[in-house]
Amino acid sequence: MTRRSASPSGSSPRPAKRQKVEHLTSESFKNGVMLAPMVRSGALPTRLFALKYGAKLVWSPEIVDKAILHAERVVDPVSGVVSYNGKSKAIFTTHPVEKPYLVYQIGSADPETAVQAAKTVMQDVSGIDLNCGCPKPFSTHSGMGAALLTNPDLLCNILTALRAAMPPEITVSAKIRLLPDQADTLKLVERIVNTGVSALTVHCRTRNMRPRERALIERLKEIVDFVEGMGRGVAVIANGDCLSAQDALRVREITGAHSCMIATAAESNPSCFSQEPLEDLEKTFVPQYIRLGKYLDNHFSNTKFCMMSFKGKYNLLKKHERTEIRDAMARTKSYEDCEALVDGLWTGEEVMNDLVNSINSRGSQPGALLETGSGVSTTEEELNDKLLSESDDEPALHLPQSTPPEKRENPEPVSLNAPLLPRNERLIPIPAAITGIDVPTPSSSPVPHVHS
Ligand SMILES: Cc1cc2nc3c(=O)[nH]c(=O)nc-3n(C[C@H](O)[C@H](O)[C@H](O)COP(=O)(O)O)c2cc1C
Repeated sequence: MTRRSASPSGSSPRPAKRQKVEHLTSESFKNGVMLAPMVRSGALPTRLFALKYGAKLVWSPEIVDKAILHAERVVDPVSGVVSYNGKSKAIFTTHPVEKPYLVYQIGSADPETAVQAAKTVMQDVSGIDLNCGCPKPFSTHSGMGAALLTNPDLLCNILTALRAAMPPEITVSAKIRLLPDQADTLKLVERIVNTGVSALTVHCRTRNMRPRERALIERLKEIVDFVEGMGRGVAVIANGDCLSAQDALRVREITGAHSCMIATAAESNPSCFSQEPLEDLEKTFVPQYIRLGKYLDNHFSNTKFCMMSFKGKYNLLKKHERTEIRDAMARTKSYEDCEALVDGLWTGEEVMNDLVNSINSRGSQPGALLETGSGVSTTEEELNDKLLSESDDEPALHLPQSTPPEKRENPEPVSLNAPLLPRNERLIPIPAAITGIDVPTPSSSPVPHVHS
């Protein structure tokens, strides 16, 4: 959307005002650190905190096109949360405060369905991203995710259809993985850029690489130069093993990418976008996360899943103190069980107001990649620690037994296992753009442990 300035009263000529651009452009995808799409871990509370702590843009978790088509859009008049509800489940929740920074990720293998899905949510988002990287069978069996990498005609048809159907104020972008061969990757990138996308995220692993394997970010430099050479202004976003806003400088130095995107490190600490990420998260972050989760009616199982994933540096908390808190966190089964963790203070509305204020007061360059410090801050040791912590066999976190065993997996998109919508009388149903029956996301089969 662009805002027209009021016509000047009187006849004296005034200098032309620059139109205020209120929607995303390819420039918005540059010079920032972004929150990656993450099924389950990229829930609304996490996205809001990521924005507060400096993420320039945030991606929604992947949602399979068919899953959202017949959702009912409801708005909570108190919290402002917008929910897209399936028959008994919230498929997607958002809040107007994140809209200017929100990119909605679609899983699709069909141009028409992708367009329908995008139209269903476009009033609440600023960009549509196509997942072309998920290597799990539930995606690839139906031709979605990484299957698109070897079906470039379909991949580009989906992007072209989205670009043609979306109004100019909604960006279209894609997230791919590297192909084993660099020349093939460049050919694919050329075709994608020619569809009219505003941005391209490259997860610098190939389809068969596991999360524990170091991302091949050195391969990105040539891709960035290639895209720049095409002269269309498309932003290239580097993804893979970026640990923080500081570390993004290292990634940019190696890759020349316009921006960086963080997944796992943000799952562990949504304040990693800040120049001074929070420490002692169990004390400094978990209480406000729980309060916000309750205020926004985020399903408790998701709030718990996310809080059990938090893992920051420790400064003040002694080992026995954090063990005590983590055990208490692990025992919770509902928000009511969190009374002690939040010191009996259910001030979620205050947490939300603070988030809204800090997100709304971001400057003209929110979340810009800041050139402070040396620029190459991550040590070999830190990176190895991160990679080891993503071991397929051993969970990264010393999580209590109650943590779901699939903890380190990249979960499948919203489907039959989506969190149940809490009962909430405040919700006002608003008819979805498209009506009909709920079509579930394809279900998964046991799969190897890989991330999109
Ligand atoms: C829990 C989890 C869920 C993910 N879900 C998605 C997803 O929905 N869509 C997607 O494109 N990638 C998804 N990914 C992959 C990440 O976006 C990212 O590409 C990958 O983790 C590499 O980045 P990292 O090294 O910063 O973790 C997921 C990763 C994790 C850990």
